[in-house]
Amino acid sequence: MASEFPRHLLDIESLRREQIEEVLGLAGRFKRERAAARAGKARAPRHQILPGRIVVTLFFEASTRTRSSFEVAAHALGAEVLSFQKDASSVTKGESLQDTVRNLEAIGADVLVVRHPAAGAPRAIARAVRASVINAGDGAHEHPTQALLDALTLREKLGTLEGKVISIVGDIAHSRVARSNVHCLSKLGSRVRVAGPSTLLPAGVEKLGCEVARTLPDALRDADAVMMLRIQQERIADARIPGTRDYARVWGLSARTLELLPPRAVVLHPGPVNRGVELSSEVMDGERSLVMDQVDSGVAVRMATLALCLGAA
Ligand code: NCD
Repeated sequence: MASEFPRHLLDIESLRREQIEEVLGLAGRFKRERAAARAGKARAPRHQILPGRIVVTLFFEASTRTRSSFEVAAHALGAEVLSFQKDASSVTKGESLQDTVRNLEAIGADVLVVRHPAAGAPRAIARAVRASVINAGDGAHEHPTQALLDALTLREKLGTLEGKVISIVGDIAHSRVARSNVHCLSKLGSRVRVAGPSTLLPAGVEKLGCEVARTLPDALRDADAVMMLRIQQERIADARIPGTRDYARVWGLSARTLELLPPRAVVLHPGPVNRGVELSSEVMDGERSLVMDQVDSGVAVRMATLALCLGAA
């Protein structure tokens, strides 16, 4: 199949709906294949979709799920993985980002999977190299593969995203997950609603094409799904909330506030979860939580993204 998929995945904002559908279609196939292998207690098939290709994961910020799932995904496609460790690299000796990525390319990198605290860093890298660049989260800008894995998880659960009400609750202002999800879910036909303390809502957020709810009950009422977000303390210089206990009482999802959500609605969280703050343990581990399913979708979405960006799908 001749794919028009872009060589770089830098954001969701510039993707067309058909391109998002293409990722979700391919990822859905990979996810079913992994589930079938698990059910049969066999190993998931190791594809030879990217034989001999070198995928470099280049993370300048902490990560548990994103880095490991990109690496598992690359292995599953037959690629080789090089895990770049910032603190053990020449970045600590003053080497620039541009020089670092040019050197990794000279070593043979075909794809650079980049997480960086500065918004726009993956785009700057894409201008400096011929390799494909995949944004694994840049500052408060975007986290495209997170939104794609959320969309896959939700679509499987809800059947379709068309016309569904998806509420995103928490620190919208500093969240790249929120931004990517607003773009992705709107392009797929959902009504996206954001909610959180007014100090954590970006000015003019409606311009992104979403509704704004001023209270948790307003966010939950008639929602088909709610996505709870962590407060991004590392991106906040001043105190925007009185304290985490107060935040949990007003904005947290607990057994009590879960009652406000329609009975069939589901709960998502990109992780890392601060238990007892945005989600109580009961909700996090409860039957309406899709948190682990999101992680499972993450491997499949990253397999699809790697294959499509390299024109191998
Ligand atoms: C998110 C991130 O890094 O943006 N985590 C993730 O990739 N699953 C969300 C967060 O850090 O809160």
